[in-house]
Amino acid sequence: MLMSINLEKVNNYITSFARLIDERRANLVTENFKVGVDLGTANIIISVVDEQGNPVAGATYPASVVKDGLVVDYVGAVQIVKQLKEQVEEMIGVRLTHAATAVPPGTIGGNMKAIANVVEACEMEVTNVIDEPTAAASVLGITDGAVVDVGGGTTGISIIKKGKVIFTADEPTGGTHMSLVVAGHYRISLTEAEQLKKERTKQNEIFPVIKPVVEKMAAIVNRHVQDYDVEKIYVVGGASCFDDFEKVFFKEIGIETIKPAHPLLITPLGIALNSWR
Ligand SMILES: Nc1ncnc2c1ncn2[C@@H]1O[C@H](COP(=O)(O)OP(=O)(O)OP(=O)(O)O)[C@@H](O)[C@H]1O
Ligand SMILES: [Mg+2]
Repeated sequence: MLMSINLEKVNNYITSFARLIDERRANLVTENFKVGVDLGTANIIISVVDEQGNPVAGATYPASVVKDGLVVDYVGAVQIVKQLKEQVEEMIGVRLTHAATAVPPGTIGGNMKAIANVVEACEMEVTNVIDEPTAAASVLGITDGAVVDVGGGTTGISIIKKGKVIFTADEPTGGTHMSLVVAGHYRISLTEAEQLKKERTKQNEIFPVIKPVVEKMAAIVNRHVQDYDVEKIYVVGGASCFDDFEKVFFKEIGIETIKPAHPLLITPLGIALNSWR
């Protein structure tokens, strides 16, 4: 029997975290709180949860110091994480001494160490280096299905069976490619396109422009899920924020596709949940 997720519960949970970040506010911190550091291609996010997993605080910063799990600007990454850490410490009134972090599936050796080194350089002991889809799955409360993470640079596919990641692939089509298409269409700079793309009120107008990119992402996912018996696809990651994103996936792939609220916060929150100490 496949467990079906309680989407409403997941959405309320993630929305309460999003609200804390938006309002730069913290809930009362308990003694055994847990911290997660997500070093993404487009965003760096620190998440704090209490021992029950309830969101306590979070902070995010747009950055391009890490690319698909590869630290391209170590000094920059450390600087940003330090800033976010101080911001969170000020909000909760407690120092962060431990944190979990995450890497895209398949990251090994030196790259994995480099990600952990960034966290350690910010004076936090690394409690866990989890793979991103497993982090996302723990927020979604799923043990089976395909987790598709559409981030800044890539679309990552992870197939999960009985709580274990049994297959992963990561291919270069992400939010950046959407921005490139928007820039070309409107004849604006990439920076302007990146902003325009994220404007809530413009998204319905923009969606037809970026739809071919979403179709390409769906084609990538479709190719990989064919060999497995996948009943549900869960999309996470910032680039899936568009309203009709999951509809295109369903149309192209024919597998029920579920997108939780605030998809870009799912993995970051999952990293904190998986911090053991
Ligand atoms: N509201 C939004 N609407 C559309 N796109 C968005 C929105 N918010 C963020 N994005 C896009 O999502 C992407 C970043 O997503 P996310 O934060 O999940 O990536 P990341 O974890 O930093 O990158 P990666 O997982 O590739 O390393 C960027 O391309 C950004 O433009
Ligand atoms: Mg990511």
